[in-house]
Amino acid sequence: MKALVTGISGFAGSHLADYLLSQNVEVFGMVRSGSKLERLGNAIGRIRLVECDLREEQAVHRVVKTLRPDLIFHLGAQSSVPVSWSSPIDTLHNNIAGQIHLMDAVRLSGIDCKIQIAASSEAYGSVQPREVPLKETNPLRPLSPYAVSKATQELLGYQYFKSYGLPIVVTRAFNHIGPRQSDNFVASSFARQIARIEKGESPPVLYVGNLEACRDFTDVRDVVRAYWLALKEGEPGEIYNVASGECRPIRELLERLLSLAAVEIKVKQDPDRLRPADAATLYGDYSKLERKTGWRPEIPFSRTLEDLLEDWRKAQ
Ligand code: GDD
Repeated sequence: MKALVTGISGFAGSHLADYLLSQNVEVFGMVRSGSKLERLGNAIGRIRLVECDLREEQAVHRVVKTLRPDLIFHLGAQSSVPVSWSSPIDTLHNNIAGQIHLMDAVRLSGIDCKIQIAASSEAYGSVQPREVPLKETNPLRPLSPYAVSKATQELLGYQYFKSYGLPIVVTRAFNHIGPRQSDNFVASSFARQIARIEKGESPPVLYVGNLEACRDFTDVRDVVRAYWLALKEGEPGEIYNVASGECRPIRELLERLLSLAAVEIKVKQDPDRLRPADAATLYGDYSKLERKTGWRPEIPFSRTLEDLLEDWRKAQ
């Protein structure tokens, strides 16, 4: 079985590559020219990489026509919420045009290929307290250009399923964390700052944004297993939440990481880390995915935090 992973050199993509290799899948990865490949580590000798920019229609068509994958995991995207405010058009263009090119490539080459779309809990956006834990049927009220791009990706997936019968499964992942994540994201940002302070590379002050938001954190290694199961066993045209079902204030995440630190650290709010809008509470109900595939998160939060901090302690 051949799988093509877009965004394979990214955080979730690199973990998905490891997981697919463990399932004896033949793995092809799409990377942009100049992408950093360190996250792929030992997997690099066991996968085939093709250089291609998802924004280039003809290049995407050529790759799909040549490789003829059985499965596509579509993870490649501009994935930062803050960047989407500074670059809304790039975010929308990248995430929406990229997906259209990919789906059209499959449609026009006539191959039999199931496609997973990596959507996001950010699309739920402005959630009422009575609506949590969120089910897939909840209305989407996106609060950022990134969230709009992800809601649009889902809608396009649905439209291509209905219009052309493409077997598309949408996964709506809540926050995923773990080793290899960029420090643009909250858990990695805090863990990296702690590791640098421990090494004496920064003064003992940790900068934070909004600590009052509540999020649902799942280990990335559980998330990529969910992507695999959702694509293999999920129903085309359907959406599946990928979540832990637990709601954690960012303040709790901070306190848990600080309790692992080897030194005393002060905390300071950095106004640049606050957002024009930030969903107050996002946590999900993953029972639809569990019923269909048996998936449940397995890695405890405490182990994820330890692994994440160790990863930053080892970083140069
Ligand atoms: N990045 C960051 N840095 N976020 C902070 C900080 C900080 O110093 N302090 C508090 N936060 C808060 C944010 O305001 C937000 O409420 C929460 O921590 C999570 O922020 P991020 O880790 O940046 O993730 P995100 O929720 O914006 O988006 C991530 O999760 C989505 C799934 O829900 C990304 O991985 C998206 O690509 C993904 O779709």
